[in-house]
Amino acid sequence: MYHILIPDNVDSSAIELLQKVDTFQVNAPGKLSREDALAAVANAHAMIIRSAITADAELLNAAPNLKMIARAGVGVDNVDLQVATERGIVVMNTPDGNTISTAEFAFGLMLALARHIPFGDHSMRQGKWDRKAFMGVELRGKTLGIIGFGRIGQTVAKRALAFDMTVIAHDPFVKQTDLNVELVDQDTLYSRADFITLHTVITDETRCMINAQSLAKMKPGVRIINTARGALIDDAALAEALNQGKVAGAALDVYHQEPPPQDHPLLNHPNVIHTPHLAASTSDAQIQVAVDAAQQVIDALTKGEYRNVVNPDVLK
Ligand code: MLT
Repeated sequence: MYHILIPDNVDSSAIELLQKVDTFQVNAPGKLSREDALAAVANAHAMIIRSAITADAELLNAAPNLKMIARAGVGVDNVDLQVATERGIVVMNTPDGNTISTAEFAFGLMLALARHIPFGDHSMRQGKWDRKAFMGVELRGKTLGIIGFGRIGQTVAKRALAFDMTVIAHDPFVKQTDLNVELVDQDTLYSRADFITLHTVITDETRCMINAQSLAKMKPGVRIINTARGALIDDAALAEALNQGKVAGAALDVYHQEPPPQDHPLLNHPNVIHTPHLAASTSDAQIQVAVDAAQQVIDALTKGEYRNVVNPDVLK
């Protein structure tokens, strides 16, 4: 009998799928506190998580039987991959399920920035009727720079092309594309883009890539959208660039620390739109990532078939 632990809220269709397997005992209590997760993981053979659970050394070492972790979502920055690999624990993600939702959300933020939509809403709630303060710009004819041209970046590109934008992209791992998108180096992207949207993971190269130096290379009036990871941006440098008017606006869905502290330098900035890590929060995406994660666990434990393994060394 395999014990499957789901210490977070995942869609019920995934739980139902797992419960159909005779050899599985499923423990899905909903979102667990750290203390309860440490206790519950003791007999787990597989665990399905979202971003709320931190699978660090302490948690992994509290799980002597653990063979695999499936992340219902893309980012595995909440899993200590080194310890998992040393312990022989296979870590899988579900990279397809929330692509459309995240791309649509990034695109929505771009429109919201271009047309000041949340600020207009906020102003009316304060009893105002101000048609002059929120002069916007069209997307048509503007250049969108996409940093990270994987699934989500490419999905954003298709939508931007439909809006008659010029699309340029930078990704060190993508050398060609069938889309009408020019692949450029990072500095070219900074110098040409009217809007920049981030769709890359955190690595030593990308951490705080939006910093004083890169901001200095950007076009005056650039607008920046981040639905990827907060650590891509040096917040103090972005605040400075916004205050100087170099950056016209930013839309942030992700933060170094979530939730961000109340003294976060951008939290009350008048030209910044904030959302609480919502990009993948659609019923469509959450069903898809949960079902994908459940199916990956089923295939791995019952057939020895692994997909979307993010620490492939563990299989050697
Ligand atoms: C992801 O990494 O899949 C997204 O950021 C959404 C999430 O954290 O669940």
